[in-house]
Amino acid sequence: MKPIEQLFCKSALNMTPYSPIEPPDQIAKRLGLNEDSIIKLDANENPFGTSPAVIKALSAVRYYHIYPDPAQVQLRESIAKYAGVNADMIIAGTGADEIIDIVCRLVLEQGEKVLGFTPTFSYYSHVVALNKGQFLTIPRESDYSIDMNKVRKIDLQGCKLVILCSPNNPSGNLLEEEVLDYFLGRDIIVMVDEAYYEFSKISFKDKVRQHQNLIVLRTFSKCFGLAGLRVGYGIASSNLIDALMKIKPPFSVNVAAEAALKTCLDNLPYYQEQVDTIIQVREWSQDRLREFKQLTVHPSQSNFILCEVRNYRASTLAVELEKKGVLIRYFATKQLESCIRISVGTREQMEAFLKQLKSLIQ
Ligand SMILES: Cc1ncc(COP(=O)(O)O)c(C=O)c1O
Repeated sequence: MKPIEQLFCKSALNMTPYSPIEPPDQIAKRLGLNEDSIIKLDANENPFGTSPAVIKALSAVRYYHIYPDPAQVQLRESIAKYAGVNADMIIAGTGADEIIDIVCRLVLEQGEKVLGFTPTFSYYSHVVALNKGQFLTIPRESDYSIDMNKVRKIDLQGCKLVILCSPNNPSGNLLEEEVLDYFLGRDIIVMVDEAYYEFSKISFKDKVRQHQNLIVLRTFSKCFGLAGLRVGYGIASSNLIDALMKIKPPFSVNVAAEAALKTCLDNLPYYQEQVDTIIQVREWSQDRLREFKQLTVHPSQSNFILCEVRNYRASTLAVELEKKGVLIRYFATKQLESCIRISVGTREQMEAFLKQLKSLIQ
């Protein structure tokens, strides 16, 4: 028999694996640390943990033996109310990740192009390759903004989709409206990823009413603390949503995720308070980080902070912090090789991180 790899499609075979983050219990085991002592600032999750109301709601669900509703009727209504649109303008999925995937599936033929502005969320290039598309990247400016003059010069021939992230992960800055408007006026699907919207409070979702080619993505993984339950959603014109609903996996949002999500939406002031605290801690942390001569801190509208590190290798810094039980994110790419990204944790977590940082670079 021939090696089974010969039966795999080329796009899957040639793909570089998505580099996921290692779970904290495994890191603790590898480093011989107590799991509870780990300070997890590497995945932009909610540092306050799962809310007691969500835990209660999950244990109260009686119907885990029954499939979820493939039409997502109640789910879409709940999300629509929160997002301020009609239910036929919403699709929910197994995280925003799944919506990115099904948008690619809907629009891409073999070899077609998708445009992105790097550095940005690395899953985009992965999922485009998986869907047999080509991910074209335009580098951002040194402050991570997108230069409109460069945008006007991009040849959009053969380009079906542009992915814009606001606030952008990992740089934390917002998308420029004129860049968005430029693409909305072209024959191209425009995806605006607002995974961190609750922290910036700035959204482009109202433009879906005028632009059938726009889809705005959001998630319950960040502010609402449901990363482990996997639920995200898209907001778009009903035409685009109908097409996506037709091709989505039937049972993508599970019953537990739906119960948790509804509980979150019934308890918005609880999450608003957490967001307010995270923003205060972010501002405080940015000020502390600016006191380090070796760091350049990029202003963030999100729940993470990107810093450029001088006179110390950023990759080594991440490893040394990890040895002390502090997990931050390092990206092994040319554009980000001298940077670290720190998720905003609780004030206590940030104090512990800063103490360890000081012991290494000051
Ligand atoms: C910009 C961005 N979009 C989407 C996601 C994925 O969201 P979800 O957990 O809903 O799949 C992330 C996760 O880190 C992200 O940073």
